[in-house]
Amino acid sequence: MSSKIIVGNWKQNPQSSSEATRLFTRTILDSKDTSKNISVVLCVPHLFIPLFSKIKTKKVQLGSQDVSVYNEGAHTGEVSSSMLASCKVSYCIVGHSEVRHSGDTDMDINTKILNLFKNNISPILCVGESVRDHKGDYLSLIKDQIQKSLTQVNKNQLKNLIIAYEPVWAIGDKALRECTTEEFIEIRIFIRKVLSDLYDMKTSQIVPILYGGSVHKENALSFVQDGGSDGLLVGRDSLDNKKFKEILYAIN
Ligand code: PGA
Repeated sequence: MSSKIIVGNWKQNPQSSSEATRLFTRTILDSKDTSKNISVVLCVPHLFIPLFSKIKTKKVQLGSQDVSVYNEGAHTGEVSSSMLASCKVSYCIVGHSEVRHSGDTDMDINTKILNLFKNNISPILCVGESVRDHKGDYLSLIKDQIQKSLTQVNKNQLKNLIIAYEPVWAIGDKALRECTTEEFIEIRIFIRKVLSDLYDMKTSQIVPILYGGSVHKENALSFVQDGGSDGLLVGRDSLDNKKFKEILYAIN
């Protein structure tokens, strides 16, 4: 089994730096070494990044949950890719449905991806539909999201890209239902086809495709083993060190 990428997305949690440090320590530092089969990435709130960037461990890599479209200047509240790079951030989620909901367009996402590449940070591009229609429009939407987000991204940069399929209807505690592994397989094959048409077959194979959306210890392994996922993007269950570790052990 090739190494799987497990990303924890803490979102706007926890509420203090001491809780964040406790969660990080209990989730990662106290866990058995899983580095052989798993790469763990924790996408934490920006404020907490410096707390963890000083800790020397191979067990985890640091990720950001978003980045500014701007490189610098008069943009109150924004954080640039070079600021992230200077704090040893290696990954950054872009195009998460919650950020798209606040107005991020595919063009913004494309700008962010290009800026991240310039700073040697691997983008984790989230794609996914809000509703499953019967006509298959969700496939055109996903294709559009990928094509527009990857404008001007060259073949060489693609080896540092990760794509996460996150069906919006399966995310969070208001999810309609869980996504099945069969549904994920369809999308995984479809994403490879879109990449192959944009670049070529060989290049399309190097991009890890993760599944995200209500991942928990009971369904984690089936997305990887049966669904052929290259890893997982975990929201709520990354905030509970026991649950997150159970996911890591299941995959390990
Ligand atoms: P969830 O979130 O695991 O809580 O559904 C996933 C995500 O939004 O990345």
